[in-house]
Amino acid sequence: MAKYTDRIRKIASYIDAGESVADIGADHGYLAAWLAREGAARRVIMTDIAEGPLAAARGNAERHGFTDFRLGDGLAPLAPGEASAVVIAGMGGETIIGILAADLAKTASFAKYILQPRTKADVLRGWLSSRRYEITHESSAMERGRRCDIIVMRTGNDKE
Ligand SMILES: C[S@@+](CC[C@H](N)C(=O)[O-])C[C@H]1O[C@@H](n2cnc3c(N)ncnc32)[C@H](O)[C@@H]1O
Repeated sequence: MAKYTDRIRKIASYIDAGESVADIGADHGYLAAWLAREGAARRVIMTDIAEGPLAAARGNAERHGFTDFRLGDGLAPLAPGEASAVVIAGMGGETIIGILAADLAKTASFAKYILQPRTKADVLRGWLSSRRYEITHESSAMERGRRCDIIVMRTGNDKE
């Protein structure tokens, strides 16, 4: 069973010590569980659009001490600027764009995003550059024989 894969660990490596994190589409909650094990985040809010994955996240992450689970679409369950880092991972590039484009003012209220598109990474890069968001780091990880791109983007808003 996939758990703390190289992809999950690489995403986590972009979280600075003591950050507050929102994991959008948290599903199994392994990222939060890994961050808890590593002591790498002060807080992790886990969201998902569907009840089933959120229940899975609860099962895996709650015992590690992170207990904030929210049902909803994209950034909707978050208050503006509520987290210093937002992770949107394991979704198609166009789904990620849809989440970021849904409410541009809210998107800009979070300082840092760690994006991991499963598809259409180039379309996502193009959209980020059209919005003048700065890509500060890029890397990739192999998972089940597939290359997974990881893109760190900053909005320029460094207030939490
Ligand atoms: C393939 S899983 C990825 C899970 C985890 N983020 C990872 O990278 O391993 C995608 C998850 O995103 C959720 N999801 C899809 N669209 C979403 C949206 N618009 N807002 C919140 N969650 C969404 C799905 O329900 C699913 O649990």
